[in-house]
Amino acid sequence: MQIEVVQGDITAMEVDAIVNAANPSLLGGGGVDGAIHRAAGPELLEACRGLGGCEPGEAKATAGYRLLARWVIHTVGPIWVGGDQGEEDVLRNCYRRSLLVAGELGAQSIAFPSISTGVYGYPVGGAVPVAVEEVRRHLEHGGASLPSSVVLPSSVVFVAFDARTYEAYRRHVGAALGDV
Ligand code: AR6
Repeated sequence: MQIEVVQGDITAMEVDAIVNAANPSLLGGGGVDGAIHRAAGPELLEACRGLGGCEPGEAKATAGYRLLARWVIHTVGPIWVGGDQGEEDVLRNCYRRSLLVAGELGAQSIAFPSISTGVYGYPVGGAVPVAVEEVRRHLEHGGASLPSSVVLPSSVVFVAFDARTYEAYRRHVGAALGDV
């Protein structure tokens, strides 16, 4: 298992699958969602129309079209409304379900944006530990209960767009790996 942190644009990642922080319509939006749709081209919107939307905490895949990534896994994060409306559980589910969908596709490498910490307002300081813990837990232990045809990705990249988010990931991934 390998976990990396990079600062940059997720649409440029050379991985098997990138994750999109979408909204329940799956029909595009701003932020990372807008960037992924622009980079993938109009075929992505057409494919998303056929998915019938997505509940918060769930994940659905399409092809990556003009992206370097072969697949886009669309997930819908929680809208932050103060923290006592189950936001953390929904955020955990986004990471868990995205990894599972990646495993079903056969993706060996996956890149995540910082789900919900933009327009949806989830505080970075709360979201980053959830993301790192959830990914580590599933890569280390989550495979045991899966059918043998599902192999979870062995490489995960957290892609931070801004320096503050990047530093938060660096701290938590380092701490999680025990080398800080
Ligand atoms: N690459 C990587 N990260 C990015 C990129 C990029 N190209 N662009 C932005 N980010 P957001 P959310 C970061 O708002 O909070 C959309 O309209 C951004 O700086 O994209 O889950 C959807 O349609 C932030 O750190 O997603 C939904 O309506 C992180 O990605 C809504 O926004 C997430 O910010 C979802 O809101």
